[in-house]
Amino acid sequence: MSLQNDTYAERVRSLAPVTEPERQYYFIDVCRGLLLAKEQAAGRKLTMHIATFGCQMNAKDSETLAGILSEIGYEESDSEEADLVVYNTCTVRENANTRVYGRIGYLGNRKKLHPEKRIILCGCMMQEPQAVEKIRKSYRFVDVIFGTHNIYKLAELLFEREVSDGLVIDVWDKAKEIVESLPRSNKYGFKAGINIMYGCNNFCSYCIVPYVRGRERSRKASDIVEEAWHLAKNGVKEVMLLGQNVNSYGKTNDDGVTFAKLLRMVSEVEGIERIRFMTPHPKDLSDELIEEIAVNDKVCKHVHLPLQSGSTKVLKAMNRHYTKEQYLALVEKIKARIPGVAVTTDIIIGFPGETEEDVADTIECVQKAGFMSAYTFLYSKRNGTPAAKMENQVSDEVASERFQRLLKAVGEVSAQEARKLTGQTVTVLCEEYKAEEGLMTGRMDNNLLVHFPAEEALLGSLVRVNLDECKGFYYLGSRA
Ligand code: 5AD
Ligand code: SF4
Repeated sequence: MSLQNDTYAERVRSLAPVTEPERQYYFIDVCRGLLLAKEQAAGRKLTMHIATFGCQMNAKDSETLAGILSEIGYEESDSEEADLVVYNTCTVRENANTRVYGRIGYLGNRKKLHPEKRIILCGCMMQEPQAVEKIRKSYRFVDVIFGTHNIYKLAELLFEREVSDGLVIDVWDKAKEIVESLPRSNKYGFKAGINIMYGCNNFCSYCIVPYVRGRERSRKASDIVEEAWHLAKNGVKEVMLLGQNVNSYGKTNDDGVTFAKLLRMVSEVEGIERIRFMTPHPKDLSDELIEEIAVNDKVCKHVHLPLQSGSTKVLKAMNRHYTKEQYLALVEKIKARIPGVAVTTDIIIGFPGETEEDVADTIECVQKAGFMSAYTFLYSKRNGTPAAKMENQVSDEVASERFQRLLKAVGEVSAQEARKLTGQTVTVLCEEYKAEEGLMTGRMDNNLLVHFPAEEALLGSLVRVNLDECKGFYYLGSRA
């Protein structure tokens, strides 16, 4: 029977459950059958590889994609020579897109040698009609394209590819439903991300995320706690609660659970030892949240608080809804209430209309806020955002020079903050082991890393370590 046989495809479709996630488990079973047939023909197991671009949200989505593919029966490979390659793309800055096109071109050449190779593109970049159009025209060898709102449909779309002649595209401009209970596979057995909400309503003027990830939707607290419970049962000790603006958590629900309350509920899950979260917005970080971080032993003393710019004028043009002074007052309040807390940030340099004075304001903020670390980005013009139409776009040369200056200031301040911990004894989660050197890498609750001699068996456990020597951004230490 040919797979292009319409009756076969029709029959499979007609038997599919209409509710989710049952429908996807059905297509996972169908794909498992198709995969087995391919494996028999090839005389070997088939492999998959997922390349993830961008943020923690994408990393989390990739865990779901990996879960679905493993459930189908693909073996995970760390090479793009795999039989099925997924690119989970990012579009937050232009260079992310450029990189993806280059790499798709390479995959296309490999596919010429191995026509059975499957190339799947998904994620934020696929929510942009121009990107999909370009791939449809110039990269015809791609097999499946889907967006951010329907990643749960991977198995169904793979099936559709197998019963058609070529590219299957399924990109939704809006989210329909939140599908729970999909398979997941996570990279580290002892830590995992949990989505608590999707989308963003903030419309910062430079940012494409609200356009590609849609409006804010919160998951039900009970579903989140249940996921944490399952993870803990499977040995996960640390969870990271993920959302574009966690302060808005719960606004689309009617159970009264705020983000601070959610932190408390997750911390009550037995087996979960540590909780992180990303990302709060400075405009509406509540006292209730600061209090919960302060009193809850399981919540890491680390607040990632994107500044974006230290100039009130630029912040207004960015539509950020806070001033330089309000931001600094907030950092002061957090540091006063939570001793030892690490505050980290994101900063964009080269936003349209940015002057030397604005850069000086940003550098002053970096120094006053005392960031433990900062991700610095060159402003990237995203078509469709209000900032793309602004006058006075800053030239690349000017922006690069400012960027170097900012980087230097950030480096100095971070090193100064990190050094303050020398001599302390802290609890770390053992995350990685380098056998050649016999060194374990542990993550402190403030997100800094320390390398110390230990045995591999400690991977995934929480241990006490002395911070002996600061190496700038990390420590060398010893077991306490
Ligand atoms: N250009 C540069 N950086 C950006 N970010 C978001 N959009 C852009 C853009 N157009 C940065 C912000 C955000 C981080 C995830 O990416 O600093 O906090
Ligand atoms: Fe983008 Fe602003 Fe939303 Fe963050 S809060 S995702 S920067 S629009």
